[in-house]
Amino acid sequence: MTTTIDQLSKQIGAPITLEGWVHGVRSSGKIAFLQLRDGTGFVQVVYQAADLEAADWEALTHAGQESSVRCKGTVVEDDRSPTGVEMHGAVFEMISAAIDYPIAPKKHGVDFLMDNRHLWHRSPKQWAIMRVRDTLERATMEFLHDNGFIRFDAPILTPNACEGTTTLYKVDHFGRSAYLTQSGQLYLEAGIFGHRRVYDFGPVFRAEKSKTRRHLNEFWMMDAEAAFVDWQGNMQIQEDLILYMLKRVLEERRYELATVLERDVSKLDAIKGPFPRLHHKDAVAKLRALGSDIPEDDDLGADDETLLTQQYDTPIFVTQYPSKVKAFYMKQDPSDASRVLCSDLLAPEGYGEVIGGSEREIDLETLTKKIEEHGLPLEPFKWYLDLRRYGSVPHSGFGFGLERLVTWICGLKHVRTSIPFPRTMNRLEP
Ligand code: 4AD
Ligand code: MG
Repeated sequence: MTTTIDQLSKQIGAPITLEGWVHGVRSSGKIAFLQLRDGTGFVQVVYQAADLEAADWEALTHAGQESSVRCKGTVVEDDRSPTGVEMHGAVFEMISAAIDYPIAPKKHGVDFLMDNRHLWHRSPKQWAIMRVRDTLERATMEFLHDNGFIRFDAPILTPNACEGTTTLYKVDHFGRSAYLTQSGQLYLEAGIFGHRRVYDFGPVFRAEKSKTRRHLNEFWMMDAEAAFVDWQGNMQIQEDLILYMLKRVLEERRYELATVLERDVSKLDAIKGPFPRLHHKDAVAKLRALGSDIPEDDDLGADDETLLTQQYDTPIFVTQYPSKVKAFYMKQDPSDASRVLCSDLLAPEGYGEVIGGSEREIDLETLTKKIEEHGLPLEPFKWYLDLRRYGSVPHSGFGFGLERLVTWICGLKHVRTSIPFPRTMNRLEP
């Protein structure tokens, strides 16, 4: 029976066939140990020279890394293996021999690995990261559907800015200027009037001249928006979502996290709600006490987020930022006109912002004034302002950067390995 490595623990003693790629092979003349991977996992296949035709033994013991092969044999229990099984091989077939595969098991520089990103996905750690990413995507969609959200995909080509004009990618749309979307949020705000709760999940673009470990120029955002939810309720939805995502990934991807990525999963296991909620004022005071020189009315810089979140074991919300550092659509704080009813969710262990959200401004006059103050043209926002004219309701929403979440959960240093093919200032290939 042809099977896959992830099924082997259910097939002890059975005669099986595996198809995959050679991760490595070593032999002592009489016995050969093949490290086989098939996309679902890794397993050791042990062959005795006496069991194979001479030509097949020759092909096996000289097989180059990443040759594609077919192995027949039986599954046996093995306590020393991290998956609890190994295979005893009886037949070996070469499908396509690989010679001089460029990524050897030795250490390579990250630029070399990124240039070979199309091949690097075969390496164990990159394999594990993508599987964690997949689980986080599915967990997100499950949680949202279970909580009354429907998927409402926003356009990528847009006539206007959502998150400020400094990071827009401009493209030509038949003689008109268009921009690649920075976030689907404004379209989701239209969606809630049809469906109450909506979300989108897709690529967004930021033409940031930023080379930090947290920035990509193209990344995947999930925006969620809900009618009749205030900024406090908005934080509760985010907290519940993050806890659900953690639960799912720790159930489904514990092997990838703990064994392959060597992530300290006890740190993730320990995360419980409620997440601390810190007024921006208190966050600034705390940062100053820790030695930061952040001004009282400023945004938290990357270093501030690192410093602050190193003090916590769980994600934290920082709320009510000064309005001048946040987007035009955020609702003014009724208790302090210089602030907005927003929250950033910062991941612990120094990771920093993973979600941005807020209650939305619904007062037509205030909103119009804010658009103008932000130096944005009113014309492309006409449709958006209609949402405040016809049956406006209090509403809130948030957006997460998937790669920031993957980076934190996998315990990575840089966001660039959390997406299949990263786009940064100096990387457009492969
Ligand atoms: O905080 P941001 O800019 O918020 C928005 O775009 C809102 N419209 C979302 C909403 O309310 N629906 O971006 C949201 C998240 C950030 O918290 C961060 O996780 C991620 O997107 N992000 C980036 N990730 C990678 N590279 C970048 N350059 C990012 N910029 C933002
Ligand atoms: Mg933000």
